[in-house]
Amino acid sequence: MICGPGEPYVLVTGCGSGLGHALVRALEGLSFPVAAFSRDDNSLTTLFPPPSPPASTWHFFADLGNFERMDSLLDTLLAAWGPPSLMVHNASVLHHRGPLWEEETRHVTETLRTNLEVPAFFVSRLVPAMIRAKRGGHVFISSTVGREPRANWGSYAISKAGVESLSANLALELPPPLFSFTLNPGPVATKMRRKAYPVTDPAVPRTPDSAAAVLTRFFVKLCTHDAGRALNGCKLNLNQLEEEEEDV
Ligand SMILES: NC(=O)c1ccc[n+]([C@@H]2O[C@H](COP(=O)([O-])OP(=O)(O)OC[C@H]3O[C@@H](n4cnc5c(N)ncnc54)[C@H](OP(=O)(O)O)[C@@H]3O)[C@@H](O)[C@H]2O)c1
Repeated sequence: MICGPGEPYVLVTGCGSGLGHALVRALEGLSFPVAAFSRDDNSLTTLFPPPSPPASTWHFFADLGNFERMDSLLDTLLAAWGPPSLMVHNASVLHHRGPLWEEETRHVTETLRTNLEVPAFFVSRLVPAMIRAKRGGHVFISSTVGREPRANWGSYAISKAGVESLSANLALELPPPLFSFTLNPGPVATKMRRKAYPVTDPAVPRTPDSAAAVLTRFFVKLCTHDAGRALNGCKLNLNQLEEEEEDV
């Protein structure tokens, strides 16, 4: 499927590795159009032309914290494809495991910027276009530590609690059929997971591909059935989505 203005597509942030990367690959596997925002290694800010058939993935390379650059990339995307049917706020950093007061100030700043200010920025840039188009929703990839206080997760836990609050407030404000919900993927074997548990992981994490397979089926269903509003304000878990798939 190739995308055009007004057609369904998913926007994903943080597609350079981990869950975001696997999500984009899985959407590509279903030929579902996706706008993939990744940071490139050279800190270059590159804009590729829109994809032509049979490709339907539009890659944007830039640091998400560079709002001036994001503004211009989003202008280009919105002009060509319109607002996304679903924005997946996935990009995140985890710098510190330990008490907050031991975390380096620059890491606190970057964590709050990437994990909380970036989603708020994308919301403020996309929601007006979504309201005009009368479609679109936001899924914020959250974490257990954002839903219940837990010691020694530094500014990461605070940023994820902020994301939960961002989604809940947004859900109260968005007119139907727009929607917002959070989704906790649970343990996934990524770079972030290895940083969180460098020695022994207390869980058996899923592979990014297995998590992305479940999420992608769910996201595509939301986009193609306009089913998101029923989930407005919800706090979902990946396990629960998988169980519901098995019950069908
Ligand atoms: N893995 C788990 O067990 C787990 C559990 C609960 C929740 N989560 C959540 O799941 C989501 C995905 O995490 P993950 O495990 O896949 O983490 P990951 O492997 O560390 O991937 C995070 C992605 O975000 C990108 N990113 C970070 N800062 C960026 C910036 N300023 N600009 C552009 N891209 C940026 C990273 O790019 P680079 O590769 O360039 O750094 C990377 O591609 C996150 O929201 C995380 O909080 C994960």
